[in-house]
Amino acid sequence: MAATDTFDFILFGGSGDLAMRKLLPALYYRHRDTSDTAGWRIIGIGRQAMTREEYIALAHEHCRKYVAAKDFIDSAWTAFAGCLDHVRLDATAAADYLALADKLKDGATRTRVFYLATAPSLFTGIVENLGAAGLVTPLSRVVLEKPLGRDLASAREINDHVGRVFEERQIFRIDHYLGKEAVQNLIALRFGNALFEPQWNRAWVRDVQITIAETVGVEGRGEFYDSTGALRDMVQNHLLQLLCIVAMEPPASIDADRVRDEKLKVLHSLRPFSADEAAQRTVRGQYRAGAIGNKPVPGYLEEQGIPAQSRTETFVAIKAELDNWRWAGVPFYLRTGKRMQQRLAEIVVNFRGVPHPILRATGGEPINRLVISLQPDEGLRLDLMAKVPGQSMDIRPISLDVALTETYHSRQWDAYERLIVDAIEGNLTLFMRRDEQDAAWQWVEPIMKAWDKSGQPPRSYPAGTWGPTAASALIARDGHAWHEES
Ligand code: BG6
Repeated sequence: MAATDTFDFILFGGSGDLAMRKLLPALYYRHRDTSDTAGWRIIGIGRQAMTREEYIALAHEHCRKYVAAKDFIDSAWTAFAGCLDHVRLDATAAADYLALADKLKDGATRTRVFYLATAPSLFTGIVENLGAAGLVTPLSRVVLEKPLGRDLASAREINDHVGRVFEERQIFRIDHYLGKEAVQNLIALRFGNALFEPQWNRAWVRDVQITIAETVGVEGRGEFYDSTGALRDMVQNHLLQLLCIVAMEPPASIDADRVRDEKLKVLHSLRPFSADEAAQRTVRGQYRAGAIGNKPVPGYLEEQGIPAQSRTETFVAIKAELDNWRWAGVPFYLRTGKRMQQRLAEIVVNFRGVPHPILRATGGEPINRLVISLQPDEGLRLDLMAKVPGQSMDIRPISLDVALTETYHSRQWDAYERLIVDAIEGNLTLFMRRDEQDAAWQWVEPIMKAWDKSGQPPRSYPAGTWGPTAASALIARDGHAWHEES
């Protein structure tokens, strides 16, 4: 029997934003598309007293909103609702775990997933209370949402606590970017094709750009966001994980530890920043009022829950370098921001130009470029140079373009769907190992410290743009431009 046939999914933060917007809709989809779900049990945990019916009604309201209308089928919902339950529990009160223990008492031989979609400050308390209540069985796993800590020391402290109750093989540190279909397609592109591997190195690649741009602001998460900022919220995890997938050596197999060993080597190759280098090679910004799609939007400091003098960054650009044989000298430009001009997540690999150009190039940089789009649409594009029709031998870029959704004619799974199934099945390949996370913090920490020490405020950029002009200058110094500017 597969682990996904019969399990208890215990969702801390069960009425919270992530549960309602992402996790329950993802579970609904998997339930709808799985033939044998008789053994599924999903228990939402929350501090507020709620009957099972009230919890189902709340989940219904949100799933209706966040599941595509054509996919929301009443009979499928009714069947899914049959698996839902609710337990009131104050995460910090050991005695409250008895009610959960009672619910789970017949389930010691079932797979048990504790999903912590709560404030990270509650993680250690929850895990310790689970351990003390005897709820952690050999078939248990814990899923930890990011951010795990604020720096290396606090991440280590959380990991130490969790490690006393769960073994590393039971700990699933989630980074939902690794669950995105396009990211896995990048793994397929690199390790399922022989074509690119000979070019995937410093001899052929000029630079790599990784951008995650959002048009949204802080979306009612002002307090959380202000204490976090873009470096911790996006760079330490999502951007560095994408960088790892682009830069890693081919692993010996797709097994979790073989993949994670290779990602770790990339993180260890990241050149650390001194305070001076951090000042030269990073840009931090904060949006001010502006317009997105002609709609005026407030500045960061006017958002709810943001202190008037806040210096939290909502934009980061970094020129990263890897000190290893494959990538020495190839800049990896990383960039992320809120309230940017366009919602866009992409990885751009710019190859070097021809060694001796004999043809005149028009209409764009005469280089081959591979664009892996993650958002808003998932796709792959390879730019080649081709002749301009007519008499001349001029060349210009043309694109081989594959829109993945159209190619497969199937609904794209949400990242959380895949990662939840992986957690239930115990597959750790797409989750961060502890040493990876430490290495990511180790690299990010000097940047945070240099920013704090500099006493400089973040650079202001108008909402609806590509960030501070300093971000263009960062890359222009090397004679390059961000993809959308090139
Ligand atoms: C989350 C961040 O991890 O990722 C959010 O906390 C961000 O601030 C979100 O908005 C972006 O995810 P996606 O999948 O919408 O690009």
